[in-house]
Order: sequence, then C-alpha cells, then structure tokens
Amino acid sequence: MTTLNIAVIPGDGIGQEVVPEALKALARALEGTGTDIATTHFDLGARRWHRTGETLTEADLARIKAHDAILLGAVGDPSVPSGVLERGLLLRLRFALDHYVNLRPSKYYDGVPTPLADPGDIDFVVVREGTEGLYAGNGGALRVGTPHEIATEVSVNTAYGVERVVRYAFALARKRRKRLTLVHKHNVLVNAGHLWRRIVESVGREYPDVETGYCHIDAATIHMVTDPGRFDVIVTDNLFGDILTDEAGAVTGGIGLSASGNLNPSGEFPSMFEPVHGSAPDIAGQGKADPTAAIASVALMLDFLGHGGPAGRVEAAIARDMAARAEANRAGEPLARTTEQTGDAITALI
Ligand code: NAD
Ligand code: IPM
Ligand code: MN
Repeated sequence: MTTLNIAVIPGDGIGQEVVPEALKALARALEGTGTDIATTHFDLGARRWHRTGETLTEADLARIKAHDAILLGAVGDPSVPSGVLERGLLLRLRFALDHYVNLRPSKYYDGVPTPLADPGDIDFVVVREGTEGLYAGNGGALRVGTPHEIATEVSVNTAYGVERVVRYAFALARKRRKRLTLVHKHNVLVNAGHLWRRIVESVGREYPDVETGYCHIDAATIHMVTDPGRFDVIVTDNLFGDILTDEAGAVTGGIGLSASGNLNPSGEFPSMFEPVHGSAPDIAGQGKADPTAAIASVALMLDFLGHGGPAGRVEAAIARDMAARAEANRAGEPLARTTEQTGDAITALI
C-alpha cells in the first residue's frame, strides 16, 4: 500500500463546506487501488488570523512542504482586511512553492444552464502564469490619504518565468487539439506584451504542429462569450488569467464548476489544487455552495500525482452528474441540492 500525504487547508467561508465533499470523492476514487490517503488539516485563514495574528508561519510552510499535494478550499473573509489572507496565505503559498503553472480547465456539458444562447463545444484550458505579473507585490504608495496620493503596482515579467509557463502550455497543446492562443495586451503593455509575444514565437518554432494565435485581453473576453469553442489552450499572465477564468466559469455553467491546479511541474514542492472560486461570503454557511469545482480539483490532483485511472473516474462521475442536472433542467425541475447532497451524488457515481 502506498500512501498519498495530503495537506488540507479548508480556509474560509464555503471553503469549509466544499473541502469535505472533495475529500469524500478522493477517498472513494482511491478505494481498492492499493493507494490510500493520509490527510493533515491546517487551521489557516480568518479564524487563525483573529486568534493569533498569523497568516502562514515558516513552521506551517515547512510542514506543508512535507506533503505530496495540497487541497485548498478558499481564503478571504469580510472580517479580515482585504488582501491580508489573499496575499499572506494564498499567494504566499503559490510563490513559496513556485506554482508557476496555474492550470484552469473549462468544459461545457450539454444541457447545463449557461448565459450563452449557443454555447457550442467548449473545452479549453487556461494556462495562467502563477508567480509573476501584477501579483508580484512590486509597488507602493506615496502621500497616502492626500489628494496627491500615488499608488503603483508594477508587473514583473521575467524571460525565465514566461518561458517556462509558455513551454508548459505548448506541451499541453500538443497533447490536445494543437491550438495555442496567447492572451495579452501588447498594443499597450509594450514591455511585458512584447516579451510574451517573442517567447511564444520562439518556443512555437519548436512546435510547428501547434497552431499559434493571439488575442488582446479585451477581445478575448468577447470571444469567450461569442465563440468560446475557438479556444483550446490559452496562455496568459497572472491577472488576465484570473479574470478570464472567472468568465470561463460563468459561460460553462457557473463558477462552482471551475477547478484549478497550482502546479510546480518539477515536483520540487507540492502542487496545490483548489476551486477557482473564493469563499463566497454571500452564501457561506447555508449549504448552497456547489462542491463540483472542489471535486474536479481532486481529479486534477490525482492526474498530476500519476493516478490517471482514479482521476478519470472522478471526471466521469462529474460528467454523469452534469448530465443528470441537465436532464432535470430539461424536465423543468432543476435539482435543488445541498452541498452535501451534490457531493454524495457525485461520489456515488465514482
Ligand atoms: P467568490 O468566488 O467567492 O464569489 C463570487 C460569486 O460566485 C458569489 O456570488 C458566490 O456566491 C458565487 N460562488 C462562488 N463559489 C460558488 C460555489 N461553489 N457554488 C455556488 N456559487 C458560488 O468571489 P468574491 O465574492 O469576489 O470573493 C469573496 C472572497 O473570496 C474575497 O475575500 C476574495 O478575496 C476571496 N477569493 C478567494 C479565492 C481563493 O481562495 N482561491 C478566489 C477568489 C476570491
Ligand atoms: C483566484 C483568486 C486569487 C487570485 C486571489 C484570492 C488572490 O481570485 O484564485 O482566482 O487572484 O489568484
Ligand atoms: Mn480569481
């Protein structure tokens, strides 16, 4: 028997509600495979910050690093100043563990309610850079609170950081439909934009079988709603990828379906899997959150850890549950389920 050691960070709000469902699905997926899981729960997030003033200590980080992977729910709470947990906990993990690939797949399941009149075949992956860009924390504020206040956030883009994520995206495109779209804004962001463009062009020469395209971010948000089927692999920077993947969630049936993996492909540090959504204070504590994104994140985790069979079973269970939802919608009786009921329904199909 081999054991997967998983660090579990439920975090805040609906993170606490969806993570137990994801763990249920994970346990079921590994049943009878000769691999089991050992979980370590970390009390990180708003409660811990209120109690101790800590977001993520060096000791927490060292313990987390000793695991094979991390499952995270969500962080952020209205009772904590905005940015304290987001930067001090979530981004700190992504940066300290060098999660340079933020993998965010989107797939549309037929019949699922979507704001699009004609969704078509939507099946794309956003490869979002995870350690640089406007998230680098490079900036500052002068004359705060005065009419002459100046606030800067500087986007950091290194050739090293861009090339490694672009390489990942090309390799992924080669395994998929062989279409890669760079999304940026090089008509305005001439420094970073042209760095990204040049690197995509030069790495692209090693992938002549992959068709390479480009969209400015503003146009990409149009295509995402008018013709999302055009996309296969999108590679983009940290902030554009953040925004585009919330939109991707919305067009494919809701942010409660969108999974993500924060990958450290070399395996030097554990990768972290989490739903794309946040702590959703507006519905927290009501048992309304859709746990599908968290469960789909477990599928990404299993796949990344080399357990393709169990990962495929989780994905197939989600697909079957989505078909059941679509059927109920067609019948005019949409399923009204609690978080736990949806988790149970998917787990029963694994
Ligand atoms: P959010 O993703 O939490 O919520 C946006 C909307 O989507 C809300 O209406 C919410 O009810 C809905 N929603 C989200 N997840 C859902 C689910 N599983 N099922 C059904 N509906 C769902 O974004 P926000 O409101 O901008 O942010 C709330 C807090 O979460 C903030 O503190 C923010 O910083 C944080 N946040 C954290 C993460 C993360 O931990 N990865 C991601 C995004 C936002
Ligand atoms: C996400 C979130 C985070 C991000 C925040 C909470 C730091 O929005 O995971 O999409 O911007 O990356
Ligand atoms: Mn986001």
